[in-house]
Amino acid sequence: MTVYDRDNGDESQSCPVLLDEEGEPYIPLKGVPDFRLTPWRESDIDDLINISNKPEVEKWAVFRDIPYTHSSAQRDIITHLPLHRTYLQSLISALPTPLPPVLPTGRKFPLGAVRQTSTGRLVGSISLGESVHQPGNWEVSYQLDPDYHGKGIGKGMIKAAVGFATWVGVKRVLAFCEKANQASAGALRSAGFKQFMEVDIPLPEHMGGRVRPVLFFEHVAE
Ligand SMILES: CC(C)(COP(=O)(O)OP(=O)(O)OC[C@H]1O[C@@H](n2cnc3c(N)ncnc32)[C@H](O)[C@@H]1OP(=O)(O)O)[C@@H](O)C(=O)NCCC(=O)NCCS
Repeated sequence: MTVYDRDNGDESQSCPVLLDEEGEPYIPLKGVPDFRLTPWRESDIDDLINISNKPEVEKWAVFRDIPYTHSSAQRDIITHLPLHRTYLQSLISALPTPLPPVLPTGRKFPLGAVRQTSTGRLVGSISLGESVHQPGNWEVSYQLDPDYHGKGIGKGMIKAAVGFATWVGVKRVLAFCEKANQASAGALRSAGFKQFMEVDIPLPEHMGGRVRPVLFFEHVAE
């Protein structure tokens, strides 16, 4: 069951948040109907740890623990769940009107659990919120289980997150990735991001500590 009709013309401005049969909010991913952005559940933690520690995912991770452990997930997700619940209750009450462009927990996006609807399984995660690099803008980062790569889910989840940001009134969303990470750059470009800068950055010790070219992208709302 969907409560709010998205077919009202200008998609960038329309409400991207729907409610499922239990009244739980979600954002559908365009082009991949079995996948959505959903609230986090405590039961997602083992899948999150498993995905985060897969070599194809871990090798591109910059600002998080390696290896990713139960205490990492506790700090990053579980401790934020009460604030997420309060935020999502306010969001539901206000629908289809957006809340102001302020999230309660930095970039720990309350709808950041990327889930396969038919199985309920966590397949990825997306962070969205105020940029630490350029305050006043928002920033997005993401990871997807390699078992699900190459099916349009990455593009879909980035577009869904940007759709949410645009809906709440955010004009500019930033993202960055290593130049060598062609999948990430490809997904950003497909989701409507434009590259605006390339900078050589010394990466953290756990990533070899070498200087590597990093691409900065922006998505500017029309
Ligand atoms: C980045 C990531 C989310 C992309 O997800 P995905 O579902 O595989 O990507 P999609 O299938 O949506 O592809 C989106 C676009 O990127 C392109 N692309 C995907 N993988 C690619 C690759 N390895 N090389 C070049 N282009 C690629 C696709 O062709 C597609 O382009 P199109 O829309 O013009 O056809 C996923 O690869 C991932 O989680 N990687 C590991 C973690 C990571 O790198 N996180 C980002 C750190 S900056």
